[in-house]
Amino acid sequence: MVTSSPYLLGIAGSPRRNGNTDLLLQQALQGAAAKGAQTKTVCLSELSISPCRHCDQCLTEGKCAIEDDMQWLSGELRRSDFIILASPIFFMGVTAQTKAMIDRCQALWVIKYVLKLPVALNHSGKRKGLFISVGSGTSSNLFQPAIATVRSWFATLDVAYGGELLFSGIDKKGDIVNHPTALKEAFLAGQSLIERSSSGR
Ligand SMILES: Cc1cc2nc3c(=O)[nH]c(=O)nc-3n(C[C@H](O)[C@H](O)[C@H](O)COP(=O)(O)O)c2cc1C
Repeated sequence: MVTSSPYLLGIAGSPRRNGNTDLLLQQALQGAAAKGAQTKTVCLSELSISPCRHCDQCLTEGKCAIEDDMQWLSGELRRSDFIILASPIFFMGVTAQTKAMIDRCQALWVIKYVLKLPVALNHSGKRKGLFISVGSGTSSNLFQPAIATVRSWFATLDVAYGGELLFSGIDKKGDIVNHPTALKEAFLAGQSLIERSSSGR
């Protein structure tokens, strides 16, 4: 029997290249690759993704009227076996780049809930996601609004919420490198995302 490698899409949501969430995402993808995943990273700040206009054109066929990078990214989101979203906290939520991408998945929401068609186009039928985030603050509710957004987005994509990796008190570019365990934790989280799924749990 031929089994193909699981496909993992990593989404970098920070506008800061090689910043804290980028570094964590890179580690997580390396961990996943060490367990056999085929990985790809997209940097949202390098793509052209306009915000949703709520024109409701997607309501008929589940196709967004806006022609930009979201057209092919939607296909990637639908065919992935795993998704890791990495976004820092900006004003208690995900970044604008990330939120624009999430809102543009309204067309996929239509496919799932209005047209009642499958959103997931992967072969395994099971999809799992991980959320990575950092913030400079330390308040106990720092990540809660972003987690709620990401959970809602994963549910629309038929991606099971496989957990989160969160670090508070991280602000300057590269601060995460000085954290005693963060990069290692990210590597292990990437490994375990793939491992837990292939063992059926
Ligand atoms: C526009 C903006 C808004 C921010 N809002 C918050 C916030 O609400 N809470 C917080 O803890 N950190 C906030 N931060 C700090 C970032 O989350 C922090 O610098 C993070 O380490 C950036 O991650 P990155 O290097 O991956 O971009 C904000 C930063 C910017 C630029």
